[in-house]
Amino acid sequence: MSMVNLTVNGRQLSADVEPRTNLADLLRETHNLTGTHIGCEHGVCGACTILVDGIPTRSCITFAVTCEKAEITTIEGLDEDEISAELRAAFQREHGLQCGYCTPGMIVSARDVVLRMEAPSEHEIRVAMSGNLCRCTGYVGIVRAVESVIADRRTRGIAAVPDGDRKRLGPAGSGNAGPTGVAAPVPSTARAVGSAVAQVARAANAARLDADWKPQASFRQSFTVSHPIDEVWAFFGRIEDVAACLPGASLAGPPQDGPDGSHVDGQIRVKVGPIAAEFQGVADVSRDDTTLSGTIIGSGRDRRSNSATRGLIRYALRPDESAAATHVDVDVGYTLTGMLAQFGRSGLVQDVANRLTAAFVRNLEARLAHGANGDAPAPAKAEELNALSLITAVVVARFKRLLAALSGRA
Ligand code: FES
Ligand code: FES
Repeated sequence: MSMVNLTVNGRQLSADVEPRTNLADLLRETHNLTGTHIGCEHGVCGACTILVDGIPTRSCITFAVTCEKAEITTIEGLDEDEISAELRAAFQREHGLQCGYCTPGMIVSARDVVLRMEAPSEHEIRVAMSGNLCRCTGYVGIVRAVESVIADRRTRGIAAVPDGDRKRLGPAGSGNAGPTGVAAPVPSTARAVGSAVAQVARAANAARLDADWKPQASFRQSFTVSHPIDEVWAFFGRIEDVAACLPGASLAGPPQDGPDGSHVDGQIRVKVGPIAAEFQGVADVSRDDTTLSGTIIGSGRDRRSNSATRGLIRYALRPDESAAATHVDVDVGYTLTGMLAQFGRSGLVQDVANRLTAAFVRNLEARLAHGANGDAPAPAKAEELNALSLITAVVVARFKRLLAALSGRA
């Protein structure tokens, strides 16, 4: 257990919490602040949104211990808040709620929109509120309520506050923890952040030979490419072309060759509902011409979600009997920590990996078709990997399988 000191709705409190205790559970179960609702517990629906140091934060995926000395405001703490009062009236007037389950989180997020955005369009309000889901009202009334509060305040000469007067960057509670706190200090400029991130990633990668590193999860993936093995092997040697086939991936510069292989700096963008993560990282790539196999060891960190990943990928090529195609076997071991770790369960990752692999193979086939005679197109601009749509597809597929199994049993 760890002691955490917080200010909640203006009152200082201390609590003994498990490292895994999230803010939502602490507030609801220990302090009876049940206005903070819990829906998905995955950081997707926004029902649990509260303010941490003035910033809307999902309390279901925020560990209480990371919020040492943070100022927490729940929906109960917004009773006397002027913007919230105007929003409550507008939600009622515009039919912006029905069962009300999503409403506390909606009000907290909408308050932030009203506070920060001077004259947003309807589309901009929808985008800004897209991290809050409502299952019964629909969004027309909610958007109208937010629009009307903004219009009314601007008419009364109340301007938006740039950035909502936020003074801190970083995940929930960062900037408050003392030297012994959990949250790390955040460098003050984006450049410093980028270089610190790269250093952290490099340090992590430099330790890759530690014999005691064990992946949290692993899986095997196999696919077939309809090109001869020598073409596929040559293509796998062109790291920039391979990266261009991976949705969301891009390299920071050309690979640097060393005695044991190549070193690359790059990034991969992932979007999971309202969470947009950009993992900056490094990787070492080596290959063995005699066994037609290779290894990729990489690590990366997303500063905003304070998530980190590390992985070891081994792949091997073998010719198809027809010699016109190539089978590729890939073994992946990985570790995912931080806010995004909740999406790292091996079953889900395996399903997402299946779909990612399908996209990779499609891109690979297309590029091989162009590149067989050496005129491969330039790497395309990295598109964002929308993991939510992948995960949604996975969930729908699993649901269909379940229905099929049930009807079969019936
Ligand atoms: S319960 Fe926290 S985002 Fe859904
Ligand atoms: S009002 Fe019921 S979920 Fe939004």
